[in-house]
Amino acid sequence: MQLLKYLQAQGFGSRKQCQTLIDHERVTINGCLKTQAKEDIDGMHVHSLMIDDQPFTPVPMPYFYICLHKPADYETSHKPQQYPSVFSLFPEPMRHIDMQAVGRLDADTTGVLIITNDGQFNHRTTAPKHKLAKIYRVSLKHPADESFCNTLKRGVLLHDDHETVQAAEAELSDAHTLMLTITTGKYHQVKRMVAAAGNRVEALHRTQFGSWSAEDMAPGEWRFFSPMQPQTIRHSVMNPAAKQIDFSLDIYVVHNQFNLRLTHPIDSIINYPPY
Ligand code: URA
Repeated sequence: MQLLKYLQAQGFGSRKQCQTLIDHERVTINGCLKTQAKEDIDGMHVHSLMIDDQPFTPVPMPYFYICLHKPADYETSHKPQQYPSVFSLFPEPMRHIDMQAVGRLDADTTGVLIITNDGQFNHRTTAPKHKLAKIYRVSLKHPADESFCNTLKRGVLLHDDHETVQAAEAELSDAHTLMLTITTGKYHQVKRMVAAAGNRVEALHRTQFGSWSAEDMAPGEWRFFSPMQPQTIRHSVMNPAAKQIDFSLDIYVVHNQFNLRLTHPIDSIINYPPY
């Protein structure tokens, strides 16, 4: 990617503004002053990016993938109505980069949210046919028992919907805490399912989205990840929820083009040797 385009892609402004940064010899990448707008920059291997003496976080290009621990009271929208946008959690100039959330979390929902500029990845990850597992920890208003879980697993009819939706898994940690796995992504799905089963969500936290989790991060914290890293697949395979996340492995395969095909059910590769 040419330097000029690279700087634009990093959110440093218009073509003209980025050209001015280069002309005024203000751009240093990996310790080298950059003065040629057409110089080819390998966006995957920039480890330091400075304007004058100020360091900025280099965003991997052409595609980046971010795992964010979404805090409460942030909206998953570029045009928030009531609370700040989740994109405002990123530093300048990153927040000006064209990026999308992979699915949405309500303003009051916390937990893992994936953000990317890779539209194909976004589409593949959210397409219903891929049945990506999303695991939620649901705080319930009323105490629940096994029959409540069974109702969710058998399927409930959502208000204003024509077909029933089923939980892939529903288990109580205690009478007020439900661990719910769903593989579809309808509007307010968890809250509506719980309401349809006769209870109410008091708090909602997403612990897992496919193979990704933000449980080791503080609310508001984020990190880049690469769907190409072997760790991703290893993590997925080792993960106790592996049965439900086979399609995230599929995405991994599609993206890294290793020609690895999952020809066996996930159970049979659960002890796949570490990379
Ligand atoms: N289901 C909901 O009801 N809300 C969310 O934020 C995510 C899933």
